Amino acid sequence: MQSAIETTLDIQQIRQDFPVLHQEINGRPLVYFDNAATNQKPQSVINAITQYYEGYNANIHRGIHHLAEQATAAFEASRRAMQEFLNAKHWQEIIFTYGTTDGINLVAQTYGRRFLKEGDEIIISTMEHHSNIVPWQMLCEEKGCVLKVIPVNDQGELILEEYEKLLTERTKFVSCVHVSNSLGTINPIKTIIDKAHAVGALVLIDGAQASSHLEIDVQALDVDFYVLSAHKLYGPTGMGVLYGKKEILDSMPPYRGGGEMIKEVTFAKTTYNDIPYKFEAGTPNIADVIAVKSALDYMAGLGKENIAAHENDLLHYATEQLSELKGLRIVGQAAHKIGVISFVLDGIHHQDTGVILDQQGIAVRTGHHCTQPLMHRFGIAGTTRASFAVYNTRDEIDRLVQGLCRVQKMML
Ligand SMILES: Cc1ncc(COP(=O)(O)O)c(C=O)c1O
Repeated sequence: MQSAIETTLDIQQIRQDFPVLHQEINGRPLVYFDNAATNQKPQSVINAITQYYEGYNANIHRGIHHLAEQATAAFEASRRAMQEFLNAKHWQEIIFTYGTTDGINLVAQTYGRRFLKEGDEIIISTMEHHSNIVPWQMLCEEKGCVLKVIPVNDQGELILEEYEKLLTERTKFVSCVHVSNSLGTINPIKTIIDKAHAVGALVLIDGAQASSHLEIDVQALDVDFYVLSAHKLYGPTGMGVLYGKKEILDSMPPYRGGGEMIKEVTFAKTTYNDIPYKFEAGTPNIADVIAVKSALDYMAGLGKENIAAHENDLLHYATEQLSELKGLRIVGQAAHKIGVISFVLDGIHHQDTGVILDQQGIAVRTGHHCTQPLMHRFGIAGTTRASFAVYNTRDEIDRLVQGLCRVQKMML
């Protein structure tokens, strides 16, 4: 695991920015450790949504009146902010989606259906979220492509030698997670991308978990597609981004048909709009797209490296403290991790653990975390997962440890 770097952030001050944190659950102050599922929203993001509805709610792009222009400008400002966040070369490479799942389905259903054919091989990994498994399985069923899977070792790291063995001239697409939501493992995606490109395959990286913790530079990575969800970035739910290289997006057929994605419609023939609009049919989630810029501004204000340093400190502290607990086994001990700790308690079902922690005001996630094949790999049905965000503290980790002692006392 990386060594801890000291944070310069005032965490108590930061906590004031998140209204939801200031409540009691079951008579105890809330400890929110379910950040990998969705993290909480600062007041500035909440304000951006209400300001849109209170001040300039209008449909975008087509209107010529003042409110429509104001809404369009704010919407497109978010696209530019996302371009900067990912260091994309062109603003047209930022497609707004409903989230990571939607972005992956878009690529599988457009690029995949148009360009992949029977016998072509698609590589994913054992630690994929279901949203980066099922769309490819659906495509394989339809097109007769073959799905190959990179295995993981006992620490929860991808076995790169096995990946290299899977790569052949039949490999046409690699789709891999940047950071595992179940284990916290940070994958060496630059190596994965370069090796795929060496055999002529395209690469999609699922950045759902990585985007709020790591710097992402799509040009330096030379990645073909990168997908993320705003709700894991201190932003709103139901909104995400697909980054794609311009020339590849240009070559792809549209995803959904409808308004906005067309140039001209006649009953004889429809011509399609340019990117990004070709992939943004219908009225989008305008308020939430606008609010994502506030989320990016919020993170930029704190400094992503400061956020990462603080979360890394929490990861170290939690790993140390939890390792002291008898009968607790951490699942996922990769050398490079973000602040996610999955564990199992001997003789206690993870669901019981979650319920008893909730009774103490501590929110964790239990189950398979939408990674059933990964759970099978480790021979378990599920884990209890604590995942950290910038507003979490060491005191809260102490509360978790005390809570787990109580779980053991009650259940054993
Ligand atoms: C690694 C990973 N990929 C994909 C997803 C799916 O994200 P969404 O539900 O926002 O589409 C998640 C959500 O937890 C995730 O953690």
